[in-house]
Amino acid sequence: MTLASNKGKAKAEDFEMTDLNPVITYRHVLQQNLGVRDPLRVVALCDSDAFFAACEMVRLGVTDKPLIVLQWEGIIAVNYPARKFGITRFQKLEEAKKCCPDLMIVHVATYKEGEAEPGYWDNIDSRTHKVSLDYYRRESVKILNMFKEGLPGAEIEKASIDEAFIDFTKPVRQALLQRYPYLAQVPPDAPSGLDTPIPAPPSVDWTSDSHLIPIHPDSETANQDLKTDPPTWHDIALHIAAEMMHKVRVDIANKLGYTTSAGIARNKFLAKLSASYRKPYSQTVLRNLAIPCYLRPLEFQKIRFLGGKLGEALVKEYDVSTVADLLPISLEELQEKFGESAVWIYEILRGIDRAEVKEKPPVNKSMMAAKALHRPITQVSDGPHWIRVLSGELALRLNDARKERPSLWPKTLTIHGGSRSNTANGWSSRSKQAPFPFIKEVTIDVIAAAGEKLWRELVGTGTGPIKINHIALAFTGIEAADDNQQSIDSFFANPSGLKRLREEEHDFSQTRPESPTRPRQCSPPSGQGPTSFTCPQCHKTFSLPPKTLSLIVDAEDRAQALEALKNEHDDFHFAQSVAREVEPEVKIDGADRTRVKPSSKTNAKPSSSKKPKKGHESEGIEKFFSRK
Ligand code: CTP
Ligand code: CA
Ligand code: CA
Repeated sequence: MTLASNKGKAKAEDFEMTDLNPVITYRHVLQQNLGVRDPLRVVALCDSDAFFAACEMVRLGVTDKPLIVLQWEGIIAVNYPARKFGITRFQKLEEAKKCCPDLMIVHVATYKEGEAEPGYWDNIDSRTHKVSLDYYRRESVKILNMFKEGLPGAEIEKASIDEAFIDFTKPVRQALLQRYPYLAQVPPDAPSGLDTPIPAPPSVDWTSDSHLIPIHPDSETANQDLKTDPPTWHDIALHIAAEMMHKVRVDIANKLGYTTSAGIARNKFLAKLSASYRKPYSQTVLRNLAIPCYLRPLEFQKIRFLGGKLGEALVKEYDVSTVADLLPISLEELQEKFGESAVWIYEILRGIDRAEVKEKPPVNKSMMAAKALHRPITQVSDGPHWIRVLSGELALRLNDARKERPSLWPKTLTIHGGSRSNTANGWSSRSKQAPFPFIKEVTIDVIAAAGEKLWRELVGTGTGPIKINHIALAFTGIEAADDNQQSIDSFFANPSGLKRLREEEHDFSQTRPESPTRPRQCSPPSGQGPTSFTCPQCHKTFSLPPKTLSLIVDAEDRAQALEALKNEHDDFHFAQSVAREVEPEVKIDGADRTRVKPSSKTNAKPSSSKKPKKGHESEGIEKFFSRK
């Protein structure tokens, strides 16, 4: 249940969820559908270690050499052997090379005009090539499939290119009843029938497979806790999940060559928070009793959705920095100041998160390939080069998806062109769309031909000056026409399938009017030698990392580094706004920027995923989430 749907009775009424050691009754054990209120709920977040670097190591057959992955001049992934030399993502390449002379440096694959597949070419140039993350996406699907195959009954939600949430509650319950069959029968003499508490839990042997987060701040080892705090039934559930998680992680490492790290706890928020406790190749268990000790010293602005405007408002109101600082504030007070749904703040500080783990629908409704152009397109004749490059990416992604679902068909192709402008918002954007032909072979040529037609409509055929800083091509309205079709040939040879799809097709006009200009650009850094900037759109402040700053000696370099940071963030907003225009749930990782906000949701946020309706005034804490 999300808070949004819980509105109206927004109070921390679920005392059992704040209880770290709830009484478990036969009813709890035997009832199947308690959902997020299940006192034996177990969720894990599994994240791949140094993922892009690991993908390159697998591709190149490298095992333990220091290696980094570049995107143009920037380091985007650093493997763990390279981290031992002090290399980080925020360093400049030259600096990284100095740290480790034997460093292997791999540039991500790129699309090149005229090539059907992205590749690792010599002489790549950001002015003509486009970064491809497709290989990493394919490897990510393999890992996800191993979770699905290895964990029957578990709910699995892809959270980002290298992360998944896994809800172990059901398979753990099954294992629990098998291992302790006495739990499946209410004893005839049970005083309260189904509501009788189950017997005391057995002892647990926490093997070396999992790290345990300590319960007491002064515990030397978590094992010491086990003497003072004997296991609860929830610990038994965590332990069973940890065994399952460990087995599948070892399988993934053996079969695919990827090491992963996992956090295992009672909900998504805490699982995500525990996953990076020890890295690489390890897993961490957060017992319920360890939650307070783990959360209290945490800087609350690091909690997802408590950064940004809402976090700043809390700091302003209370002059606080850690979770512990906020705990004395009563629910009533928070609700008085931040509206009814501030119950979400109250609960998250106590480690309560009701977000469900939900498998994403198998078909992405849209696919977008985008390129931020550091050298803008200034002539109409420059467009087709990029359209071919972007068509290459769309063709590959659609055909990859068709391997799983042969009858996938994108109903529309859309082109977007964005220009920096002198408007208050800094960006203007135009788009054109048209129905996409219903054909079997979706090749680069077919997409490029349709794309070029839209390009001419977008910019006209005149010779006047144009300036386009960002270009995107997108398939929208992607649908699987018939899941029962065995092959694409049989589907496209079947006129009834075609007819049905045509009937379902929306009534698209040939093109649509220019999309409205949206607020996009972040303000330039102000003042002498700034080292950070605040984006007026999302109100987040971005600072140059201290390591970068320590390497920069002159003001010009600093300005350049800041400009790069700003552009990167700017592109992120642009890609997001284009994505919203295409389809609200479109993925933006097709954009030629990978340094974007990860798509993983670590917890539910009131109404945040919905765009505010026009004319609807945000209330309470919702106003802190009114954009994005
Ligand atoms: N990534 C990126 N830019 C970012 C964040 C992530 O390009 N700002 C890419 C990285 O290349 C990375 C992948 O997304 O390989 C996953 O990111 P993340 O899990 O944050 O880091 P990892 O490199 O996997 O390292 P870790 O072992 O710490 O998870
Ligand atoms: Ca990772
Ligand atoms: Ca990650």
